[in-house]
Amino acid sequence: MTDLKSQVMAALSSVIEPELHRDIVSLNMVRDLEIEGNTAKFTIVLTTPACPLKHVFVRECNKAVIDHVPGIEKLDISWDSQVPTDRKIQGRLDVPMRSIIAVASGKGGVGKSTVAMNLAVALAEAGAQVGLIDADILNPNIPMMAGIGNGRPRVNGEKMIPLEAYGVKLISTGFLMDPEKPLIMRGPMLHSAIRQFFIDVDWGALDYMIVDLPPGTGDAPLSLAQSFPLTGAIIVTQPQEVAVSDALRGAAMFEALNVPVLGIVENMAGDFFGEGGGERLATERGWEFLGRVPLDAEVRKGGDFGRPIVANMPDTPAGKAFHALSQKVAARASVVMLQAADVIPLSVIG
Ligand SMILES: Nc1ncnc2c1ncn2[C@@H]1O[C@H](COP(=O)(O)OP(=O)(O)OP(=O)(O)O)[C@@H](O)[C@H]1O
Ligand SMILES: [Mg+2]
Repeated sequence: MTDLKSQVMAALSSVIEPELHRDIVSLNMVRDLEIEGNTAKFTIVLTTPACPLKHVFVRECNKAVIDHVPGIEKLDISWDSQVPTDRKIQGRLDVPMRSIIAVASGKGGVGKSTVAMNLAVALAEAGAQVGLIDADILNPNIPMMAGIGNGRPRVNGEKMIPLEAYGVKLISTGFLMDPEKPLIMRGPMLHSAIRQFFIDVDWGALDYMIVDLPPGTGDAPLSLAQSFPLTGAIIVTQPQEVAVSDALRGAAMFEALNVPVLGIVENMAGDFFGEGGGERLATERGWEFLGRVPLDAEVRKGGDFGRPIVANMPDTPAGKAFHALSQKVAARASVVMLQAADVIPLSVIG
């Protein structure tokens, strides 16, 4: 029996994780192997619950084991997931967050908040623990997009309790200010507001902290990138050239600050703004193209009425695009976190 087990393990060690380019056994992704009659039962621990590759693993594991281990005719695979912990965060922030992903752009109004919201909801639907910080302190849009514009966080001791919508924990100055009055703040106050959203909120353990930034390369993205160990940044652009050249500046800023660019999202693609600018930028600069979201009035309505399209109309082209985007972002985050570790450490996944 033991012998069969080691034969199955040996066979599985020929299965390569396509994103990480390492075999699933040395990555410690195969757990709890048991042989029952002619069936090998085991669990595959993925690096994100939002993994698009399950069918690939099933196919490859079957090929590897059934064809090469006499006596095994069936696989019974269970799934589990554990998002790696970003080593940069460990020890630097006294908060249990595994990864921090900023959503940024060069130009305003390209759809950062829409992308941040739908991304967060899709990751939560996949089973991840997700938080969303609205770092657009002066013009917060997340409360409305989440459908909780009148929400007020409760306070527990020293900490604020985040609000929750669509399975995502949220904090925003929109929950704290009078909607009729403008917030007036200088750079240092913006900085401390963002800092408080990390430190003084009772987030609990999070797999992904998504941060929705204000547009451009101003104070907020700069101080965020300098003060917090970001796993990476997603740059949102519209397809047209003026937006793309701003996106380039936005992405270059993060690179200059040693924050990995997880990739480029092209939003509002279609007849009006054209198509392809975001993908071209990604290809030319060697950044990942994370996907294209079509211009669709339903996306806007979803934002206005607090019903993110990825949850509310998941089968529309835009709903599907956001879903696929979330899987790509999660995969890229895993790759960046595991590459940043000196050796791919089993304990990161294990
Ligand atoms: N794919 C889309 N199709 C149609 N409308 C969209 C799409 N994406 C975003 N919108 C709409 O465009 C407007 C701007 O989007 P959003 O507020 O997300 O942009 P932003 O980049 O966060 O803006 P700001 O720079 O002001 O923070 C919103 O009304 C939003 O609903
Ligand atoms: Mg915004």
